[in-house]
Amino acid sequence: MKKKGLLIAMAMVLVFALAACSSKSNSDGGKKNKKQELEIFSWWTGAGEEDGLKALLKLFGDKYPDIKVNNAAVAGGAGTNAKAVLASRMQGNDPPSTFQVHAGAELNASWVAAGKMEPLNDLYKEQGWDDKFPQSLIDMISKDGNIYSVPVDIHRGNVLWYNKKVFDDNGLQPPKTFDDFFKVAEALQSKGITPLALGDKEPWAATMIFENILVAKLGADDYKKLWTGEIPLDDAKVKESAEIFKKMMGYVNKDHSSRNWQDASQLVAKGEAAMNVMGDWAKGYFVNDLKLKLNQDFGYTTTPESQGMFMIISDTFGLPKGVDNVADVKKFLGLLGSVEGQDAFNPLKGSIPARVDADPSKYDDYGKATMEDFKSAQLAPSLAHGSAAPEGFLTKVNQAVNIFVTQKDVNAFISSLKNASGDLK
Ligand code: BGC
Repeated sequence: MKKKGLLIAMAMVLVFALAACSSKSNSDGGKKNKKQELEIFSWWTGAGEEDGLKALLKLFGDKYPDIKVNNAAVAGGAGTNAKAVLASRMQGNDPPSTFQVHAGAELNASWVAAGKMEPLNDLYKEQGWDDKFPQSLIDMISKDGNIYSVPVDIHRGNVLWYNKKVFDDNGLQPPKTFDDFFKVAEALQSKGITPLALGDKEPWAATMIFENILVAKLGADDYKKLWTGEIPLDDAKVKESAEIFKKMMGYVNKDHSSRNWQDASQLVAKGEAAMNVMGDWAKGYFVNDLKLKLNQDFGYTTTPESQGMFMIISDTFGLPKGVDNVADVKKFLGLLGSVEGQDAFNPLKGSIPARVDADPSKYDDYGKATMEDFKSAQLAPSLAHGSAAPEGFLTKVNQAVNIFVTQKDVNAFISSLKNASGDLK
């Protein structure tokens, strides 16, 4: 009798197990349907980040009402969380239909080199894009003659934003050199105003300050040589940059490690801090979310001693291998790369269009001036945003920066950088 009971119990377990399996296969069936959706993966959520994407998606929906779009954005500035989610999905052969990826090493060293991306040369031909993007940018998204993504924007990373009223009230001029910066910072500090706002809860925000000092001290050419190993990371100019970085950290808000980039920008917006160093997505945030007026409430200049240089960060989207709905992805990429798509997205995002033939009248004075600057400036790919060097190296630099910001030990910082250089290959 006991044995019979046991058999019944075992049979029930089996039935439940089978039922669980069949419901799993239903949900797998669901997943297959899900793949018919156009899943657009980015980290543009929330304040200052999603307005441009929404405008683009609206345009796409108007043009292709039959294509179901899934806006699969993962929150976290500079892709702090999205990049990790993406990596595990790519490893599990479950790529989104298309995903945000920075031009440069992030695309090439991570995904193209691993054979995970489809070339898009045919799309470029079909769309007549051969001469529509700057060659310097095409070079950043190409490997062995193939083009692997479509750039939607060009962001500038070496921008210093400042509160105009704070500067005017204190009779100060925006700093052009590091000497100016420290003079202005002293004057502000003596009045109880935080000179420099920082939000490095996600460490890339501090890495941006450091890379902008590096480019200023080395120049764009030598800055690039740091990432190829031609100039060692314990070079005298890198040390000098670390000293300046250390000094600058003496002028930031005390609670920097608990703020993100938006929270830090708010300090400037409110006049509690005078300046911050951030990419021009901060302008999108100031204008669209905080309703500030460019050149009235806030002003901008290039970060000290980086005039004539352009720290370039370009958001692009590509076509991963193994995606079912290729035709729909290409429709999305087609819109993303069109003048119409770029002029809907960029005025809201704070960036300039990647296309050379976009309509400048759609952009504010910052946008117009930045488009002009881009034509003549020397380009330097951003390290903090994954364009200059492979992800493994960047992760170590971010860790080193994070420690440096609290410990302020230049020698330890330089040796961590030097130790990380093995990951440059
Ligand atoms: C991206 C921008 C974004 C910023 C903050 C950068 O890495 O290129 O599009 O606004 O991060 O999240």
